[in-house]
Amino acid sequence: MRSSGEGERRMDAQGFDYSHHLQLDTLLSSLRQVTDHPEEHLFITVHHVLELWFKHIIFDLGRIVAMIDADNLAQANWLMRRIAEILKLAEAHWTVLETMTAADFAEFRGQLTGASGMQSRQFRQVEVMMGLCETAGPEYCARTERMWPGLIAEHPRTLRRVFFDCFERQGVSLLDVYRDRWTRHALFQLAENAFEIDRRFQSWRHNHILMVRRQIGIRAKGTGGTFFRDYLASTTAYVFFPELFEFRNELTEDAGGEVMPGP
Ligand code: HEM
Repeated sequence: MRSSGEGERRMDAQGFDYSHHLQLDTLLSSLRQVTDHPEEHLFITVHHVLELWFKHIIFDLGRIVAMIDADNLAQANWLMRRIAEILKLAEAHWTVLETMTAADFAEFRGQLTGASGMQSRQFRQVEVMMGLCETAGPEYCARTERMWPGLIAEHPRTLRRVFFDCFERQGVSLLDVYRDRWTRHALFQLAENAFEIDRRFQSWRHNHILMVRRQIGIRAKGTGGTFFRDYLASTTAYVFFPELFEFRNELTEDAGGEVMPGP
C-alpha cells in the first residue's frame, strides 16, 4: 500500500500511468482555439464533450443491437438505461453553454465561418443507428446519404428493427406487453427504455433550440447556413419509435378516455 505522500506522478515499468492510459496528451492537445476570444474555450469544450458521448453511445448501441438480436434482453435493457442517462447528461450542457453571453459569442462566431454542429457525423450516425431513416421520411434519408454516403447502409440492423423483430419473435404486441407488464417484464422494460431514449433525444433537441435562440436570436442564420427557426423546428418532429407514443392513445381509449382522431 502506498503512503499518503505518494501523490506524485508514478509510472510502472511499462510506462503505463494515468496520462498514458487516457492518452491525455492527444486528447487535451486537440483543444485549439481558432480565435483569441476566451469564451471560445468553453464553446470547444462543450462540443468535444458531446462528441465523446456520441462516440460512447455509438459504441453501446452496437452492443445493444447484437444483444437484442440474441434475445439477451437483461443486458440490453441495462445498457439502454445508460444511454438514456447519457442523453440526460448531454442536455445539461446547454445551460453551461448559456453562461457564455450572446454578446461574447457574437464577438467570435464570425470567425467560425461554415463550421456547424449540423456537420457532426457522429450525431447523424446515432440517429441512423436508432432507426431514424425508417421514420423521418425520404427527404431526411436523401440528405443524410448526400452528406455521408454509405452511412445508412453501414447500419442495416437499427435499434428500431431489432426491437420490432424481437416483439415479432415473441409473438406479442406492444399492447399485450403493457397489459401483462409484470409477467412480460423484460419486453416491457425494453419498450420503456426505448421510449425514454426517444424522449431524452427530443428534449435534447428542444433545449438546443432554446439555447440557440438565446445565443443568436430567433431569426438568425446559423453558421451551417440554415435559418434554424425553420430547420431545427422541423427536426423536433423526429421520433425513433412513434409506435410507442401512438399505442398509449389506445390505452387511454380502452380505459374510456377520449382521443382525437389520428394520427
Ligand atoms: C452557441 C452554441 C451553438 C449555437 C449557436 C448552435 C447553433 C446551431 C444552429 C443554428 C444549427 C442549425 C444548422 C446551422 O445552420 O448551423 C445547429 C445545428 C446543430 N447543432 Fe448546434 N449550436 C451550438 C452548439 C452546439 C453544440 C455544443 C453541439 C454539440 C455537438 C451542437 C450540435 C448541433 C447538431 C448535432 C446540429 C444538427 C441538428 C440536426 O441536423 O438535427 N450545437 N446548431
